[in-house]
This record gives sequence, C-alpha cells and structure tokens, in this order.
Amino acid sequence: MSKRPNNYIPQFEPQVKKRYAKAVYRQIMSTWIGVGPATKEFEDKLKEITKANHVLSCSSGSSAILMAIHALSLPKGSTILFPSYTFIAGANAAKFLGYNVKFIDIKEDTLCMDPDLAEDYIKTHKQVSCIMFVDHNCYLGDDRWRIRALCDEYKTPMVEDSAQCLGKNTAGLIGDVGIISFSTPKIIGTGQGGAVLTNDSKIANKCDQAKDQGAGWRKTKIHEFIGTNFKFNDICASYGLAQLNEIEKIKKKKTKIFDWYRKHIKLLDFNQNFNWMVIYKTKNADKIIEALKENSIQAIKYYRPNPTQPSFQQKDEYSVAQKMYNELVYLPSSLTLRKKDVDRICKIINIHNQ
Ligand SMILES: Cc1ncc(COP(=O)(O)O)c(C=O)c1O
Repeated sequence: MSKRPNNYIPQFEPQVKKRYAKAVYRQIMSTWIGVGPATKEFEDKLKEITKANHVLSCSSGSSAILMAIHALSLPKGSTILFPSYTFIAGANAAKFLGYNVKFIDIKEDTLCMDPDLAEDYIKTHKQVSCIMFVDHNCYLGDDRWRIRALCDEYKTPMVEDSAQCLGKNTAGLIGDVGIISFSTPKIIGTGQGGAVLTNDSKIANKCDQAKDQGAGWRKTKIHEFIGTNFKFNDICASYGLAQLNEIEKIKKKKTKIFDWYRKHIKLLDFNQNFNWMVIYKTKNADKIIEALKENSIQAIKYYRPNPTQPSFQQKDEYSVAQKMYNELVYLPSSLTLRKKDVDRICKIINIHNQ
C-alpha cells in the first residue's frame, strides 16, 4: 500500500477518539454484542434529539428507506417521484420493491426536488403513489413544506430522506415516514447504521416487523408477517452513543470548518440549517480537483445525475442535475480539519478558479 504524504488531506476521514473506542471495548466485554440495552439507549437518545414518537434503528439508511416504502403498502406497479440529483438509495429501494421511479429535476438554489416540476407531473399522472423528498445537504427550507402540501392535496404519502441531517428540528418528520443514516461520513457515524423516524404507530409497527423476520416470533415461534434482518447492534450503538454524548461539540466544529472556508471562498449558502459536507460550485471543477490532487488534497465530483444511471436511463430533460454534476465539488469536510488545512485548500482553489 502506498503511504500518504504527511501533508495529505482526505476528502473525508472519521474522527475516532479514544473514548469512543473505550465505549466499544466496554460494550464488547459486557457480552451484549447483538441487539440489547445499548441499541435501546441509542434509540431513546435519538427520540429525544429528533422528537419523533418512534425511532427504529436498523442496519443502514438504505434499509431504513426500504422499510419506510414497504410500510406504506403502495399500489403495485405505481410510481414514486425521486430527485434527479442526490444519493441514489431511495430510487434503488423503490425499484427493489417493484415500483417505478420517475425522476424530478432539482432546483439549483436548493439542490432539492423542484416542487413546481413535481406538481406538473403529479397533476397529469395518476399512477404516482408517493413522493420521496431528500433533505439534501440539510436543506430544510420552504420547498420541503411545498412537497408536504402537494402530498396532502393529492393524498399521496411523503417519504423524507433526511439521511444527512440528524438533529435538526423536524428533519425526517414532515414526511409520513422519514429516515436518517449513520454511515461513516454522517453527523454521527457508526460504520453502518440507520433509523426510521415516524409519528405514525402503524408505520412504526410495520417497520418493526420488517426488520426482524416479522417480529414477535421469538416468543411465539410464529412468523405472522414477512420480514428480513435489518437489525442494528449494540457494538455500533455504543460507538454511536459515545458520539451522541458530544453532538453539540461535533456540530460546533462543523460550523467552525464552514466559517473557515467562507472566509476565503463562496459556498453554496441556501437555507442550510446545519452544515454537513462542504460543497463548492465552480465552472472549473475538474481543474480545481486536479490542482488539489497535485497538492496532496483529495476533492471529488459530486453525484452523477440519477436518470443517467444504467438501471434507470430516463432521457427527459434534467438540465439542472447535469449542470450540478459539471460544477459541484465535494471539498475536504472531516472533523479532523484544522484552520491551516482549510487555508491551504482555499489558496489553491483561488489560484485555479479563474
Ligand atoms: C441522501 C442519502 N440518502 C440515503 C443514504 C443511504 O444511507 P446508507 O449509506 O446508511 O445506506 C445516504 C448515504 O450517503 C444519503 O446521503
């Protein structure tokens, strides 16, 4: 394996602290390594933070989305609307469960689904059974409420993918069902993990059944419902709890990192309630990524437009998604960044952004 140069700055690396490792060690030595008290404590803590009536931990944000869609019992063969530009997990989950996916282009100023385009589509297509809104990069602004209103008008459930925005008021909760992710780069990263959030006890119950082979069977040995194994575990929960204990500190550091960047370059500044990854919009994306690379700094292109992915191939006009693919760059965003790192990154950007 080639050794990284001393001055290497990765796009992302987890912040691993001794106290997190100690918490995991203690957990393992307690012999609770499957689902047990730490998972329950993790869910309780998440309930406190999100104010959701029900929080169901699970193996990933993607499995949370699968369970969320499954719990809605949508008509077979119906269509779910999904943004043209974001992480593809929700579109894949919809397809996996046998639904059609129609991509709706995003807005440049929010990076989220355009409510006008969603409305145009739903008005003329009766087969739409659900809208999945992604609170992309922690966008929690008005368009999210417009999608909620549209869902109410057309009596269509809303799934809210809030994978990236744990701990912001109502994030994941204005949908009939929402989800968060605890994959490594998230605000709280447990290696893998996720949770369903909902205030609807029927949906919670269905997700509970789905994540453990129909649930209840451990006492009765009868599997009354179809389910699978999407359970979380106490090892990951103990790691997550150690971070949750200092979530305010984590958020403060993230804000500080954004402030360091903003001193030098203009960041996407739409209605971000809370900052997750640092995204930079520029006509010189490839040139800047290359220049950073030459200086041992890793920056990467943002997502490819979802409609262009081999499993979907939707040829309609998705001009904003395409433009964002050309222009957006993920800059280094780890909690381990120091001010002098950000100064170095921005100096290179400013030289090459002409
Ligand atoms: C918006 C969004 N949705 C869903 C997911 C999927 O979460 P996971 O990786 O935990 O399956 C992610 C993960 O990056 C995401 O960013």
